[in-house]
Amino acid sequence: MSRHGDFDAVRKDIAAQLQKPGYDDGSAGPVFVRLAWHSSGTYDAESDTGGSNGAGMRYEAEGGDPANAGLQHGRAFLEPIKEKHPWITYSDLWTLAGVVAIKELGGPDIPWQGGRTDLVDDSKVPPRGRLPDGALGADHLRFIFNRMGFNDQEIVALAGGHNLGRCHGDRSGFEGPWVTNPTRFSNSFFKLLLQLDWKPRKLATGMTQFVYEDPDAEEDEEPLMMLPTDMALKTDPGFLPWVQRYAEDKELFFDHFAKVFAKLVELGIKRDAQGNVINTDNQLGGYVSAPKKSNVPTGPTKGQPRARL
Ligand code: HEM
Repeated sequence: MSRHGDFDAVRKDIAAQLQKPGYDDGSAGPVFVRLAWHSSGTYDAESDTGGSNGAGMRYEAEGGDPANAGLQHGRAFLEPIKEKHPWITYSDLWTLAGVVAIKELGGPDIPWQGGRTDLVDDSKVPPRGRLPDGALGADHLRFIFNRMGFNDQEIVALAGGHNLGRCHGDRSGFEGPWVTNPTRFSNSFFKLLLQLDWKPRKLATGMTQFVYEDPDAEEDEEPLMMLPTDMALKTDPGFLPWVQRYAEDKELFFDHFAKVFAKLVELGIKRDAQGNVINTDNQLGGYVSAPKKSNVPTGPTKGQPRARL
């Protein structure tokens, strides 16, 4: 048990949780980044609803959304940390885990502040359908991300999250990693998107993705992949110049990514001059953390959970 508010102690324990031999590519980092992003990416600026405050994925209405399939592994990996630091809210823990994972996997320092609260029931869980669908194109990306308040440059920078991790057939229906080292944050995603010859391929799951067949690959080597939404970054004239700049200039990408990810995890959070969160839930309840859930992953994934806990 750490001192209430000792986020540095939590950061250290998140970093120590990242190594996961036997799970995916050996790291929980990518799924932490996706957890942080999906907990925040429900924000709707017009109605000022959704966003990371609340940690609604603890409820079936949000956690059971097929768009969130697989994130139960990330949440379960974080349960031992919640157990050790019971004062932290889930909404702070999940966003901080993404920020720590990006840094530990070689990415930039991302400004992060605590203070989010957890919903006490599912009445304020945002409706499903606010997260992007990888099977669609540029119009869809703008529709989804403009709703959160992001412009073209910010959309491309955010999509650089696909330098990490992989798609899982049993979660999204897509399959494979975007880059050759999916546990190292870099600008490879943008370079590969521009350089390689991507060919559409229909998968057994019925989904179509883009793959690169490396003629020199070993027989059992997995081909790299791109989602239709990733390909749209290359074909759309508003997105392409940013893909080119980020492919050429890793420092610029890291700088822009840090800014936009910091903005993402703050969507819907209101703070006073001292940085205290003043969302209504907080005013009524203070810094309220929800009780610990279970260490066992539960969620919409079909078949056996891959996580070893
Ligand atoms: C631009 C719209 C986006 C679409 C359509 C999209 C779609 C997807 C899909 C289909 C997967 C595979 C899920 C699975 O099968 O496990 C995935 C994984 C991932 N996404 Fe995105 N995503 C988008 C934006 C982002 C953003 C903004 C970030 C973070 C900044 C991000 C970070 C990740 C990461 C790290 C993974 C790998 C997770 C893992 O390895 O378990 N994505 N995304």
